[in-house]
Amino acid sequence: MRIEYCEHPRLRWIALESPQVTVAEGLDVIEGLSQPQKTLPCRYFYDDRGSALFEQICDLPEYYPTRTEQGILEQYARAITQLTGACELVELGSGSSRKTRLLLEAYSELDYELQYCPIDVSAGILKATALDLLGQYPKLKLCGLAGTYEQALAHLPPAESENRMLIFLGSTIGNLDEAACDRFLTRIRQALQPGEFFLLGVDLQKSIPIIEAAYNDAQGVTAQFNLNMLQHLNRQFQANFDLHQFAHWAFYNPIQHQIEMHLRSLTAQTVQFKALEYEVSLEAGETIQTEISRKFHLPTLISKLEHLAFHPLGTWTDSQGWFALLLCQRQCSSGDCP
Ligand code: AVI
Repeated sequence: MRIEYCEHPRLRWIALESPQVTVAEGLDVIEGLSQPQKTLPCRYFYDDRGSALFEQICDLPEYYPTRTEQGILEQYARAITQLTGACELVELGSGSSRKTRLLLEAYSELDYELQYCPIDVSAGILKATALDLLGQYPKLKLCGLAGTYEQALAHLPPAESENRMLIFLGSTIGNLDEAACDRFLTRIRQALQPGEFFLLGVDLQKSIPIIEAAYNDAQGVTAQFNLNMLQHLNRQFQANFDLHQFAHWAFYNPIQHQIEMHLRSLTAQTVQFKALEYEVSLEAGETIQTEISRKFHLPTLISKLEHLAFHPLGTWTDSQGWFALLLCQRQCSSGDCP
């Protein structure tokens, strides 16, 4: 872990990313491409270009999750502050923090020294956002953390105040399969002290054409976002994916209640990863799954959270019931409270 202090007196900056590429780092790539259904981890979407493309996706007319969640926050941010009282905010996958600004606005009305710790894998977007927020909120203290969720949860800076809320918006939890989601929620429970808060945004099950349109936009931004993963892998692992030989494919799987995003190989081809001393062959028409995006059934999710010692304090949805925000409080679980 490396800590550096920026020019700004109210910004502490923690960089956790390792600059070197090690073979161990690419093991997830090799493992995914060795399965009968080839997969690539969705974390490789997010280099600086991928993060910028994701920001564009959030503004697309077809991509309803961002504006729906934003609408819920606009309506209920104050209600959230009333339930938690003053607290330090820690956000996983903060990106441009565009929705969190609504919370920052509401918390700054409580008149205390507001502390916000945005966490993102993309150091570029994190830094730009941090500087922007410091200009916008003269009393805000920031502690930016660049790294993966796993790294961040293992290195969360100790809480500076009594109360803390971990924020995970945008239904990013839906990008984990059920087993990974359970492990992730368990890690969050371990990272939080009893009494601390967890605010979760989730996309809900709804009519299939609405969901499929969100991942097949007319402007083709989602297709670029999907293909950009190959560019990222080319750079990071000296691979030689030819982006013209792949096509974006996204569909809803109604059994698993999830969108599946794939890259379809347009030809029979072999791709080399020089830095990993690895190569993979694809048949014409074969696909690589790059992402799942699960859509949740709210009562089932609430039971899961309760089972994992997160006590639900509030649930808010939009008028169509497309998206939900859940505020939970970390309870004592066996062995961690007197
Ligand atoms: C980040 N995540 C919640 C997005 C989603 O909807 O699953 C990623 C995304 N993939 C394609 N469009 C957006």
